[in-house]
Amino acid sequence: MPSFNILRSCKPAQLAAWCALLLLFVQVTHQAPTVYNNKFNKTCRYAAYNISAELFINGIDGGYAFIAPLESNIAVNDYLQPWKACFGPNEQVDMKLLQSGKKLPCFYKQNKWGNYDYWEENACDILIRTNCYCYAVSKYVGSYCEPGLGSTGKPFVLPVKDCKAAVEGVVADGGKLVDRWTVYNKPTTDSHYMALAVKPAADAGDSGDFHFWKLDADKTWSYKAGDTLSRNSYRNGTLIRDIEAADARGAYTSFCGYFEVTPDSHKLVGNSYYFSNLPARFKLWRDVAVKGSVQTLDKISPGWLAAYKGYYADAGWEDGLYHRSQAARMAMPTSRNGHPHTYSVRPMSVEAKANAAAGASNNV
Ligand SMILES: *[C@@H]1O[C@H](CO)[C@@H](O)[C@H](O)[C@H]1NC(C)=O
Ligand SMILES: *[C@@H]1O[C@H](CO)[C@@H](O)[C@H](O)[C@H]1NC(C)=O
Ligand SMILES: *[C@@H]1O[C@H](CO)[C@@H](O)[C@H](O)[C@H]1NC(C)=O
Repeated sequence: MPSFNILRSCKPAQLAAWCALLLLFVQVTHQAPTVYNNKFNKTCRYAAYNISAELFINGIDGGYAFIAPLESNIAVNDYLQPWKACFGPNEQVDMKLLQSGKKLPCFYKQNKWGNYDYWEENACDILIRTNCYCYAVSKYVGSYCEPGLGSTGKPFVLPVKDCKAAVEGVVADGGKLVDRWTVYNKPTTDSHYMALAVKPAADAGDSGDFHFWKLDADKTWSYKAGDTLSRNSYRNGTLIRDIEAADARGAYTSFCGYFEVTPDSHKLVGNSYYFSNLPARFKLWRDVAVKGSVQTLDKISPGWLAAYKGYYADAGWEDGLYHRSQAARMAMPTSRNGHPHTYSVRPMSVEAKANAAAGASNNV
């Protein structure tokens, strides 16, 4: 029997019907709200024009705070004047230098007034100022999202002991608890599904953490750990098909359940927290009246990825591959409180830590 060939075996009318069906399928697939989107995986071009030579070369107060693409330890240590880590008009962009961290994806040239024009590729706000919860709901609110904060205005209480508070928070924000069958079988229109698990605090000094995953159109799970690039696979490349599987969630050992969420109506507000100093650095430009612009780039450039991949890669808590020597992520040189940014939520406050310690000793 000859193999089935749609073009040869169909009469025009049948062909039209097939086409209509195909179009319908494409249309439906295209419109499905659960299509994986990586709108969070974004880099930007930050440009500053006509900077006086004095400001460009010596920075503010001679502190080089102005042009400081400092997101790499190596570039900081190698150059007294950080802009020297950028490519000048007589330099060739060199991937090896970018890969080694000796150069960063930033560029400068002198203009006809003898002033400097400068631009750099760096993470956009949507990459820096979002965490797993914002990502799983698919909403940007300017800083990290916490279960319950959007609906009650109350910060999520740390340390994380179990699923209870996080589940209650998500439900208050508008999430609807659903079962596993629903997640894999019931299609949605304006809503989609997400999963929640927690990593209970290991001891009184530990805040614990929560983590969310989003179900994409292909029925696999994707996630974003704090201010890192989103992923839709384990590090070994395997797609995440069953988030309840024994080894699917790394340190997030307690599985809490599934939610149906509707981004338009889900109540999220930012907790004003994020780790990166980038937004503050670009604010400096405005403060010293430098003309600047920011533009979202269509694609992450190979140069940015080479320079910052280690920095914006997650810690690996999520698929169990994390241990210090293997951590994909470098500690951020200027992070607040000296924290490497491995949290989905803000680090625990001093009082919360003291309370947790008191509680822990009372329990002994
Ligand atoms: C750049 O700055 C110079 C002064 O240093 C000024 O004369 C010139 O008009 C500026 N150019 C633009 C395009 O703003
Ligand atoms: C986000 O970007 C990184 C780097 O290009 C890539 O490895 C990752 O797959 C992207 N996330 C998704 C889910 O496409
Ligand atoms: C990839 O890693 C995941 C999580 O650790 C594991 O479940 C899966 O079996 C691994 N796949 C392969 C092909 O090794």
